[in-house]
Amino acid sequence: MNFTSCIYLLLIILTTNHFILSHSENCNPDDKRTLLQIKKEFGNPSQLSSWDPTIDCCNSTWLGVDCDNFNRTYRITGLDLENINLPKPVPIPPSIFNLPSLNVLYLAYMPNLVGPIPPSISKLSKLNYIYIIQTNISGEIPYTLSQIKTLVTISFNSNKLTGPLPASLSTIPTLAGIAFNDNQLTGTIPESYGSFPPLFTGLLLSRNRLSGKIPASLRKLNLADVDLSHNAFEGDASMFFKSNILTYTITLGSNSFAFDISKVGLSKDLNKLDIRHNKIYGKLPERLSELRYLHKLNVSDNNLCGQIPMNTRFDASCYVLNKCLCGSPLPACKT
Ligand SMILES: *[C@@H]1O[C@H](CO)[C@@H](O)[C@H](O)[C@H]1NC(C)=O
Ligand SMILES: *[C@@H]1O[C@H](CO)[C@@H](O)[C@H](O)[C@H]1NC(C)=O
Ligand SMILES: *[C@@H]1O[C@H](CO)[C@@H](O)[C@H](O)[C@H]1NC(C)=O
Ligand SMILES: *[C@@H]1O[C@H](CO)[C@@H](O)[C@H](O)[C@H]1NC(C)=O
Repeated sequence: MNFTSCIYLLLIILTTNHFILSHSENCNPDDKRTLLQIKKEFGNPSQLSSWDPTIDCCNSTWLGVDCDNFNRTYRITGLDLENINLPKPVPIPPSIFNLPSLNVLYLAYMPNLVGPIPPSISKLSKLNYIYIIQTNISGEIPYTLSQIKTLVTISFNSNKLTGPLPASLSTIPTLAGIAFNDNQLTGTIPESYGSFPPLFTGLLLSRNRLSGKIPASLRKLNLADVDLSHNAFEGDASMFFKSNILTYTITLGSNSFAFDISKVGLSKDLNKLDIRHNKIYGKLPERLSELRYLHKLNVSDNNLCGQIPMNTRFDASCYVLNKCLCGSPLPACKT
């Protein structure tokens, strides 16, 4: 090889290499444009300075952005943003709904996120998990969520959502749980919620303004965790007590539930039973003393009566303010 051809070869190597480098960006160009638009709609918060148009958005340096590098579609599959200090109050960036491959949307701890969840959320047709937690979003839970047939978890804890629970959520075939704790939701639990799919195990609705009776249809569910505390529910809640399924927590405190607890079933896996401050009556089931994993119990402030089952490990505050509950740790029963 002479000198000229050697230089020539070197030039080819250099230019090809340059060509490869300048075109090495994987990120789908539509998604990249969309992300930069989202950044703008968020008001260009300084914490998103890593969303740099000169860098590949499938490069893990983009804060909170997940890209499908595995199947090499290089589409954006996850937005995972918390504690982003938005410079001024803004709605949920509408451009988010232009990320068609999004599986996970997580927006948390952003007090300057305001306004409703737009119905066009249903454009996210591949969404599995949606979390909007501790923001100032308000308005109703859009019924269009039920058009997303891939949803597994919907969590809108600690926001300012109002209005009813959308009845149509029970038509989502993959749904495993909803968590709407700490909002201002009103109305009753829809009858249709008895038809959640078999995998549905989490119903978390505490600290709202929900009311009325629990539909009997909910007896069909196999809930591992139920939290209806701090609402205005009334009547029967015995449908949540079953001996033959996996149940970890039953939290019904601070409502007006009134039913006989003497004969309810109790799952052997129960960790927590909190029914404080209701109008629940009857005798505590003997089986309570057999529950190995029970580490939180509070039945105080109800209309319970009779002997406390032996061998329970809880202090008197968990039993006080009942009609005629007696025996250790309360004073002995009168014989
Ligand atoms: C990501 O981008 C930075 C800055 O351009 C670069 O230094 C780094 O090598 C890139 N990482 C990957 C995994 O491509
Ligand atoms: C890759 O594709 C398979 C089959 O379509 C899918 O199950 C999986 O979730 C995909 N992985 C990612 C990271 O998108
Ligand atoms: C968000 O809610 C908090 C707590 O209620 C409140 O202090 C704050 O002013 C709200 N921010 C906006 C932008 O509405
Ligand atoms: C049980 O609930 C009562 C309120 O009814 C409360 O005062 C007490 O501290 C609770 N006990 C425990 C151990 O949480």
